[in-house]
Amino acid sequence: MSESIFRKDGTAQGVAKQRLIESLAEPEERIINDPYADRFVLGASFIKFMGHKLNVWLGQKVVPGFHEHLISRTRFIDDLVKASAAGGVEQYVILGAGYDSRAHRLELPSSLRIFEVDQPEVQSRKRSKLPKELTNSENITYVAVDFTHQSLTEQLMGSGFDQSKSTVFTLEGVSQYITKEAFRSTIKEVATLTQKASSIFFISYVSELLDNDPEACFGKGYPNAEKRAKLITYGSAKAGEPWISFYSAEEIESVLSQNGYSVKENVTLKDLNSRYFAPVGRGLAENQLLPLEHFVISESQK
Ligand SMILES: C[S@@+](CC[C@H](N)C(=O)[O-])C[C@H]1O[C@@H](n2cnc3c(N)ncnc32)[C@H](O)[C@@H]1O
Repeated sequence: MSESIFRKDGTAQGVAKQRLIESLAEPEERIINDPYADRFVLGASFIKFMGHKLNVWLGQKVVPGFHEHLISRTRFIDDLVKASAAGGVEQYVILGAGYDSRAHRLELPSSLRIFEVDQPEVQSRKRSKLPKELTNSENITYVAVDFTHQSLTEQLMGSGFDQSKSTVFTLEGVSQYITKEAFRSTIKEVATLTQKASSIFFISYVSELLDNDPEACFGKGYPNAEKRAKLITYGSAKAGEPWISFYSAEEIESVLSQNGYSVKENVTLKDLNSRYFAPVGRGLAENQLLPLEHFVISESQK
């Protein structure tokens, strides 16, 4: 497939690009390290030539805090997955995995069964770019699903998902791209799939304030909030994947609790700034904190 007509992975590439930029930082200053990100990003050589500081500086000019927001999301989930695996969770399902390489770059027990779920076109490009020995890892299964018209349950069960095992699910940077109907039915399917065992469910969502009150969404002092909100939504539409669904905390809590999940944490970059960036001397100022997406950990007990 020609890369120029491949239109389903624009945003997956966009996130991989931020992971590449972060990986260029000095080891003692970076929040995450993704040695595979460059394989998925068009123009990776130029980004590497520019280096971490210049790329981050440029990003700050366009949308302050956007790079840090994506990187803190990745790190937050890395921490969750590592802690879950260390605590004995047996399966990990990455919903909308895109070019995320968590399955390879984290030190996870080889007994952890990993299912990578995404659209078939994105998965086949990913597999063609990763080193062969990685994509053939015995504990990783690629499951092709389009959430809008395919059954996650059918595809996962057909791929060896074990309903008696404890599982962590992550839906990272996906809810804004799918309809609310597809989002709700995905959560319902996850709840049904995990009826017999305990599960942890991470979800990220974009605040509805982005759509109806950008100034309130971005917070006090954030420069040109309205212009930046338009730039973010325009950018994803231009990449071929418009943001179509926005949520309030109440709506998320309600859909999760209807499906047996209780929210344990709901954080944004504002909360993660002091956890991740301040300790390595990269703490963001108040007017650079971009709380556009929320990161939610929920759990169901069996
Ligand atoms: C912004 S990317 C995030 C990728 C990855 N989670 C990460 O953070 O790097 C959004 C992902 O959602 C996937 N996606 C979007 N709509 C989808 C759908 N209807 N069914 C399955 N996956 C979908 C895209 O293919 C893409 O990989």
